[in-house]
Amino acid sequence: MATIEIPAAKISFECPPGDTILRAGLRAGLGMAYECNVGSCGNCQFELLEGKVESLYPEAPGLNERMRQRNRHLGCQSLALTDCKIKLPMRDDYKSLILPARATGHLTAIENLTHDIREFRFRLDKGNRFLPGQYGLIGVPGVVGARAYSYCNNTADGAEWHFQIKRMPNGKASTALFDQLKVGDAVTLDGPYGNAYLREDAPRDILCVAGGSGLSPMISIARAFAASEKLKGRKLHFVYGGRSGRDLAGEAILRGLPGFGKTIFYYAALSNPADDDNWTGRTGFVHEAVKDILGASLPEHEIYFAGPPPMTEAVMKMAIENKVPVAQLHYDRFY
Ligand SMILES: Cc1cc2nc3c(=O)[nH]c(=O)nc-3n(C[C@H](O)[C@H](O)[C@H](O)COP(=O)(O)OP(=O)(O)OC[C@H]3O[C@@H](n4cnc5c(N)ncnc54)[C@H](O)[C@@H]3O)c2cc1C
Ligand code: FES
Repeated sequence: MATIEIPAAKISFECPPGDTILRAGLRAGLGMAYECNVGSCGNCQFELLEGKVESLYPEAPGLNERMRQRNRHLGCQSLALTDCKIKLPMRDDYKSLILPARATGHLTAIENLTHDIREFRFRLDKGNRFLPGQYGLIGVPGVVGARAYSYCNNTADGAEWHFQIKRMPNGKASTALFDQLKVGDAVTLDGPYGNAYLREDAPRDILCVAGGSGLSPMISIARAFAASEKLKGRKLHFVYGGRSGRDLAGEAILRGLPGFGKTIFYYAALSNPADDDNWTGRTGFVHEAVKDILGASLPEHEIYFAGPPPMTEAVMKMAIENKVPVAQLHYDRFY
C-alpha cells in the first residue's frame, strides 16, 4: 500500500496496489479534478514531486510529450510504485457524492436497441449506488484498460448496473462486449464516476441532448425525472441525433414513462437520412435541432448532453452563444 501525499493541501491518502492514484483519491473522498477516467481528456494530470509511478496506458492521448517531460502524469492511469508526493489543484466540486467502489458484475441480459446499440445488464456482487447521468468503468475480459460507460437505469441499492453501448468499428472493448460476452460471464466494474448527474434542486425545465452513443445517460436522467417528486410540474425535452433512420433510438423507452407527451417530449434529427428512410422529420446536426426547438427559451433550461466530442463541443458552443450560463451545462465527452 503506497501513501500519496499532496503537501500543498496538507492531505495524504492510501493507494492500494492495482488502484490508480485518481481513483484511490476519489474513493478517499477527495476533490481531485478529472473527467473521462480513460486517459483521454488530460484533466487529471498531476506533477510528481517525489516517488515512482507506472502508467497503465503510457501512450494515453491525454498527455503530450512536453507535459511528460515536465514530470506530469495522468492520475486516472498512474499506479504508485512507492510512496509519492504530488502536486495538483484540489476542487470541492469534484468530491464524489457517492464514493466509487470496485465490484464484480455478472451479465444477466442483453437487449438490441438499434443495429449497433445494445443494452447490457449486470448484477453486482457488492452493489454501489449512482446518480442519473454518471458512469462506471467496465473491465472487459481480454481487453487492456477499463472503458467508461454511462448508466441507463436508476437504482435504490446499486445492485443492478445497466449500460447502453454502441459497437465501435474496430473498438476493442465494444467488439468484445458485442461478440464475446455471454449471459453469466463476469466483468470487473468500478464506479460511480462523473459530474454530469441530474441536479434535482435546479429550478428549471430540463433539456437532454444525446448524440449516438450518448443515449445511455440521457435515458437514465429521463427515467429519474419521470419518477421524481421534486421535479413534478417541470418539463423534460429529449433531443436525439443520429445519422440515418436505423440509428434512431430512445423514443420507445420514453413512451413507456409516465408523462410522455405531457411533461416529457422526444425529438429526433438525422444528419444523413438514407433514401429509403422516407424521413420527413428534422434533418441536420443535433445542436441545430436543439436551437430550432427551444430557441430563446434555452437559458431557462438545465442542459445535460453526451456523445462524441465534436457533438458535445457543438452543443456547448451553441448553448453559450445563446446565453445559457455555463453552470447550467452538464456533459460528458465520450472519447
Ligand atoms: C465518460 C464516458 C462515458 C461513456 N459512456 C458511454 C456509453 O454510455 N455508451 C457508449 O457506447 N460509449 C460510451 N463511452 C465511450 C466508451 O468508453 C469507449 O470509448 C467506446 O466504447 C470505444 O471503446 P472501444 O474499446 O470499443 O474502442 P477502442 O478504440 O479500442 O478504445 C477507445 C477508448 O479506450 C481507451 N483506451 C484505449 N486503450 C486503453 C488502455 N490501454 N488503457 C486504458 N484506456 C484505453 C481510449 O482512451 C478510448 O477512450 C463513454 C466514454 C466516456 C469517456
Ligand atoms: S480523467 Fe484522466 S485523462 Fe481524463
